[in-house]
Amino acid sequence: MTIATFPLNDGHAIPALGLGTWKSADDDAYRAVKEALRVGYQHIDGAWIYGNEEQVGRALAESVAEGVVAREDVFVTTKLWNCFHRPEDVEKGCRESLAKLGLEQVDLYLVHWPIAFRPGVIMPEDEEGFLPLSEAPLAATWEAMLALREKGLAKSVGVSNVSPSTLRQLVADTGVAPAVNQVELHPYNPQPELMATCAELGVHLTAYSPLGSMDRPATMKGEDEPPLLKSPKVAAVADAEGLTPAQLLIAWAIARGTSVIPKSTNAGRIAENFAAGEATPGADALAALDAIETRYRYVNPSSLLRPGITHDGDFWA
Ligand SMILES: NC(=O)c1ccc[n+]([C@@H]2O[C@H](COP(=O)([O-])OP(=O)(O)OC[C@H]3O[C@@H](n4cnc5c(N)ncnc54)[C@H](OP(=O)(O)O)[C@@H]3O)[C@@H](O)[C@H]2O)c1
Repeated sequence: MTIATFPLNDGHAIPALGLGTWKSADDDAYRAVKEALRVGYQHIDGAWIYGNEEQVGRALAESVAEGVVAREDVFVTTKLWNCFHRPEDVEKGCRESLAKLGLEQVDLYLVHWPIAFRPGVIMPEDEEGFLPLSEAPLAATWEAMLALREKGLAKSVGVSNVSPSTLRQLVADTGVAPAVNQVELHPYNPQPELMATCAELGVHLTAYSPLGSMDRPATMKGEDEPPLLKSPKVAAVADAEGLTPAQLLIAWAIARGTSVIPKSTNAGRIAENFAAGEATPGADALAALDAIETRYRYVNPSSLLRPGITHDGDFWA
């Protein structure tokens, strides 16, 4: 099965369905990526902060060596962590990821969050760990990302977790729209304003945590979270369409024109999710998901926000 692609504003294209790798630890990440490439995935989503780029890279290299897939047929994304936001540190962050992945170039390199930490601080323990945006404005980080593209270290560059207002400001400041904005998108967090802004600016959206991210650490979970995969509405529509709830959520994301990157380290669920790439739920089924009124954001970085230091107002999405 060949998965459809969406065009990017720089002339490249992104496969509509990829494998997420956040929380896929060590050998699980290696096995998941190998299995995904074996069943036909051509898009792997990673990040420096996930701590598993070596395993992802090893799985990719072995799959290429074994003739399972050609390197040029796999769209590899990774992300700049918040401690590399100063323009002079951006290439260092990228080269660390490339070295771990064993690649000379990634297909997509994203600014992971529009929040900066001081160099060397992986997760701040107090306000001292943050770099004020006045010292590392997002526009300066973005200019350095564009330079990486010019150097050939990344084919495409983009952002993640960026709100409509921050995106507009970034384009106004630099004149260059990111190819991609990767954000949390699912029926409980459909972000219509962001969808409209990205369509207007020509920025492709990738949907993360499309299944509700229930394997997040307990410290990241809210009380009484509504588990998306257990939604009776999603289950009823999926049943009527002959799909599993996960497959319906993935197909809904693709039908909205967003690429989608469900994470799994389970071989059965990796295959189940991939099969959603050719599911064609009817218009009524899609409309039923659009009509869901529950609102919930699973990945909530509020503990990382320091108003007055990191941002003013509505800067992340
Ligand atoms: N840019 C960002 O800031 C950002 C933030 C969050 C996520 N992401 C990216 O988006 C990816 C996906 O998001 P996520 O990892 O938060 O969560 P997710 O994909 O919404 O959900 C993953 C959870 O769903 C389970 N699962 C997968 N397929 C399933 C199926 N068919 N049926 C039932 N359960 C299923 C997984 O368990 P098993 O593994 O056991 O199958 C895991 O517990 C991440 O891995 C990462 O690559 C990016």
